[in-house]
Amino acid sequence: MIDTVPFLDLGRLHAELRHEFDAAWHDAVDSSGFIGGAAVERFEGDWAAYCGTRHCIGVSDGTAAIELALAALRIGPGDEVVVPANTFIATVEAVVKVGAVPVFVDVEPDTLLLDARAAAAAVTPRTRAIIAVHLYGQPCDMDALGALAERHGLALVEDAAQAHGATWRGRRAGSLGTIGCFSFYPGKNLGAFGDAGAVTTDDGALAAEIRSRANHGRPAGAAERCDVLDGNHRLDALQAAILGVKLRHLDRWNAARTGIVDRYRAELADAGVTFTTIRDGAASSHHLAIALVPDRDEVRRRLAAAGIATGIHYAIPCHRQPACADLVATARHAPEVPVVEASAGRLLSLPLFPQLTSVEVRRVIDALAAVLATMDPAITAAHAEARAAHATDRAA
Ligand SMILES: Cc1ncc(COP(=O)(O)O)c(C=O)c1O
Repeated sequence: MIDTVPFLDLGRLHAELRHEFDAAWHDAVDSSGFIGGAAVERFEGDWAAYCGTRHCIGVSDGTAAIELALAALRIGPGDEVVVPANTFIATVEAVVKVGAVPVFVDVEPDTLLLDARAAAAAVTPRTRAIIAVHLYGQPCDMDALGALAERHGLALVEDAAQAHGATWRGRRAGSLGTIGCFSFYPGKNLGAFGDAGAVTTDDGALAAEIRSRANHGRPAGAAERCDVLDGNHRLDALQAAILGVKLRHLDRWNAARTGIVDRYRAELADAGVTFTTIRDGAASSHHLAIALVPDRDEVRRRLAAAGIATGIHYAIPCHRQPACADLVATARHAPEVPVVEASAGRLLSLPLFPQLTSVEVRRVIDALAAVLATMDPAITAAHAEARAAHATDRAA
């Protein structure tokens, strides 16, 4: 039996910090403050400082973060929100939950991130917001999207669920739009011991509204009053304490991820693998290492046989999900997302986490190169052609 190179091993990450976690757990038990309180306030302050925003509101999860952001922006029935078709379905769920209509647009062929030109073409008098999903860890082109939002008076919401610590022109994700939304799902670059999330913003009124909505509509300093019926989307104190411990290591972990991805890129460059491009001005948090390969499912099967675990992000584009069938059927135009359509079957996420060893990285590189070397040349050539065509489209 060969050892498997895991796609993600949180056990290794957590083993490093066991004593720090034990201390956080004991503090929580000693204080008996499980909801709100000092641990949550401390983490909110630390996360706002890290992202470079005036405010941070800890919330229950990343989906709630986006939903609360849209609700606080007063986006609802009759409104349209531009979303990339290549994202985790939560981005879409949040739009639908507030009663608005998600409008699916295409992504750039080289980064696979929301295409600002496609977003501009999708804007109508009903559009109220654009959700810039910093997918895989790379910030979107926030210059182009910021200008578009400004031109049409739209909110620019960042879905930064995969972009903890990523930067655009030196500024951190979460501080680049009207509101930043984070998930601290355990497998994220900064992950809790359960579900958790946060919203970041410089806008005090939006922050107050989100804080109130996340806590049964109760405004600050008036625990008996309910201003808005929303629900409970609070961050637990224990999760906040764990996140506070991990935050101290985030930059070091992100640097380790960058080193691994750099090796994948350099050492697989001639093997027929295409990697998403990192735009000038962007620094990715490298949440995922996305390779585009020919005959992805076959490559994945062969890698698994060689003991290499991989993932797919995302196999079914949002507009193709069964849950979105009605949305697409009733849309004014069918989604025009050729890049998303063409790339979905070729996406492969390679093992990536800070504690992946150099020997394991070597095994991934050698195994993938070996698998691709034995693929049918016709399939490999078709893959190369498809990539070249998309690159040309973007340059045009
Ligand atoms: C891009 C993106 N948006 C939103 C979410 C939703 O976050 P959560 O799972 O914490 O609700 C995730 C997390 O999986 C994500 O990757």
